[in-house]
Amino acid sequence: MLSSLSSTISRLNLFCPKPLIPPSLSSCLKTLKPLPIIPRWSCLHSLSTHSTSRLSTSLKPQFDALVSKDDLVVLGIETSCDDTAAAVRGNGEILSQVVSSQADLLAKYGGVAPKMAEEAHSQVIDQVVQEALDKANLTARNLSAVAVTIGPGLSLCLRVGVRKARKLAGSFNLPIIGIHHMEAHCLVARLIERELEFPFMALLISGGHNLLILAHDLGHYIQLGTTIDDAIGEAYDKTAKWLGLDMSRSGGPALEELAQEGDAESIKFSTPMKQHRDCNFSYAGLKTQVRLAIGSHNINPEIPISSASSQDRRSRADIAASFQRVAVLHLEERCDRAIEWARKIEPSIKHLVVSGGVASNQYVRARLDHVVKKNNLQLVCPPPKLCTDNGVMVAWTGIEHFCMGRFDPPPPADEHEDYVYDLRPRWPLGEEYAEGRSEARSLRTARIHPSLTSIIQSSLQQQ
Ligand code: KG4
Ligand code: ZN
Repeated sequence: MLSSLSSTISRLNLFCPKPLIPPSLSSCLKTLKPLPIIPRWSCLHSLSTHSTSRLSTSLKPQFDALVSKDDLVVLGIETSCDDTAAAVRGNGEILSQVVSSQADLLAKYGGVAPKMAEEAHSQVIDQVVQEALDKANLTARNLSAVAVTIGPGLSLCLRVGVRKARKLAGSFNLPIIGIHHMEAHCLVARLIERELEFPFMALLISGGHNLLILAHDLGHYIQLGTTIDDAIGEAYDKTAKWLGLDMSRSGGPALEELAQEGDAESIKFSTPMKQHRDCNFSYAGLKTQVRLAIGSHNINPEIPISSASSQDRRSRADIAASFQRVAVLHLEERCDRAIEWARKIEPSIKHLVVSGGVASNQYVRARLDHVVKKNNLQLVCPPPKLCTDNGVMVAWTGIEHFCMGRFDPPPPADEHEDYVYDLRPRWPLGEEYAEGRSEARSLRTARIHPSLTSIIQSSLQQQ
């Protein structure tokens, strides 16, 4: 019965074995069809436009009754960096949120050491999920579905979350939703700002990504710009490390704090990519400039800032402030241009969402607010706790897709340990805006998964 059910629903394709390259995509797309028949557990607004004549009888009894969106409860699991899980109700109520940070590992190894990270994830994931359920006063039986990040990110880390999600979903006969990490950063803005309608723009800034997108619709994104080398969060982290800052909360917050003591005009770093009139980003050159400045100011990164002389501390603060000014100026310039481009495509846009870990920075928010106001738009910035990686964004994105009928049926309860999961370490969110391609970019394209947008659009065309 489940096999017939699976052909009636659209999928984010958690089940396709190893669909990393386009040839296997074609077979995935066959199963991707979002047929107009939505199973009984789907939320009412989908049901209002769809027939419910073909239903599974082997599903949890609770799904036999019509469930409204408000009554859905989705558990979100995210292990692409920290371990986090959360339970969220369809009406946006956050029932619980648990984060188990890997910051101590980051501080110890100065970056992500994949094997160590995988072990650390495996050790805490059961506890994190249990705590998320306990804090919400729920058991897995009360859930409507499980959402889990399947990419982009390190496969070793993603696997831990996906394994846990499938185990839980298999044991309790729950549908499962595969989530794009960056889409989750973007869509959490719709949880906190319920007025936020498509289309809108988003700047997503994290440790691994700098993305400027036009969000046309759920699952339909145009990529206006991306980074050609490092992301801004990586530049914050490296600069913080070289300045001898405390990395236990990751480098960004420590650098933001120190920058408040410094003179942002004292060192004239040059703004990246001035000569490229596009919306892409680059932070590798700025990192090099910072390194040189650190050398010329005789700063020894081995000496922690807490032990630095007052003059040394002053130099470090000046570098921090000067770095931050230029790093953010680069964002401002790119956003300004992207707004112009986006308006040509979608004149009706009213909002710029800024999300991802770096968006928790107050200086970043203030500067971007200025850009947005100048362009008569509104800034939507989730609270810092929802900007950095969190299970809420995964659960919420799960709810958004679930309500469109995009999910996979429950995995078998006895799934074999060797089952090959569909993980998407390199997975673009949207299709690149053709007029925005940069000559400065030479993207490595090997082993890149087809974008979320292209998968969903192809499946819609097959309807
Ligand atoms: O989105 P996120 O939590 O994880 C990734 O998907 O990468 O972003 C983490 C990044 C790290 O590079 C961290 O240093 C940066 O966000 N970050 C900040 C701040 N808080 C976190 N960067 C600047 N200022 C902050 N306050
Ligand atoms: Zn993130």
